[in-house]
Amino acid sequence: MSALIAPSLLSADFANLERDIKMINNSQADWFHLDVMDGVFVPNISFGFPVIKSIAKHARKPLDVHLMITDPDRYLSAFAEAGANVISVHIEACNHLHRTLQSIRQLGVMTGVALNPHTPVSLLSEVIIMIDVVVLMSVNPGFGGQKFIQNTYSKITELKKLISEKGATTKIEIDGGVDFNNAGELIKCGADVLVAGNTVFSHPEPLEAIAKLKMS
Ligand code: DX5
Ligand code: ZN
Repeated sequence: MSALIAPSLLSADFANLERDIKMINNSQADWFHLDVMDGVFVPNISFGFPVIKSIAKHARKPLDVHLMITDPDRYLSAFAEAGANVISVHIEACNHLHRTLQSIRQLGVMTGVALNPHTPVSLLSEVIIMIDVVVLMSVNPGFGGQKFIQNTYSKITELKKLISEKGATTKIEIDGGVDFNNAGELIKCGADVLVAGNTVFSHPEPLEAIAKLKMS
């Protein structure tokens, strides 16, 4: 079974966002992946509410919002209002993850938790049942176009086991360095959603790149 494909707009042409959004609307992609960075949790700043609202006006597929920000609780309702369909917070940025997940649920949005490469999957055991999507970072977050970190494969296997032991229906999303060489193996290990920035937008034919990932 093929995975859901979520192109990351971080690698799109920000001066031609409408064009790139329409390309994704017309492609085999399943979600839009939106990377929000605050310059504190990660050493980069990307975009915020006005840009997400503008994207939401044109996007015809769910918006998967990945918050690389400190203290995300302050802004959850604003992201839901801006049009997010999935909100992922970083476990490393949350002191009260259980409460944060309850807040996301109450907003009627899918719950997501992202884990940096150094963070063990076992930290999710008490809350996995509340999580719709776990985002396993396969690069250190902050930038597109980085090299895939190999320990991701064993983390997928371990997470898959935890999900089934707890009777959860959580999807596993892989974010960072996904390409044509590793997509098939990631899906074989149990990935349900593949984020792809550079692989889609640096390809001469992004529609073909998406179709190729979808066939993995
Ligand atoms: C990294 C972001 C990713 C990034 C992926 O901090 O969370 O979503 O845009 O880009 P690629 O696919 O180029 O590694
Ligand atoms: Zn991301």
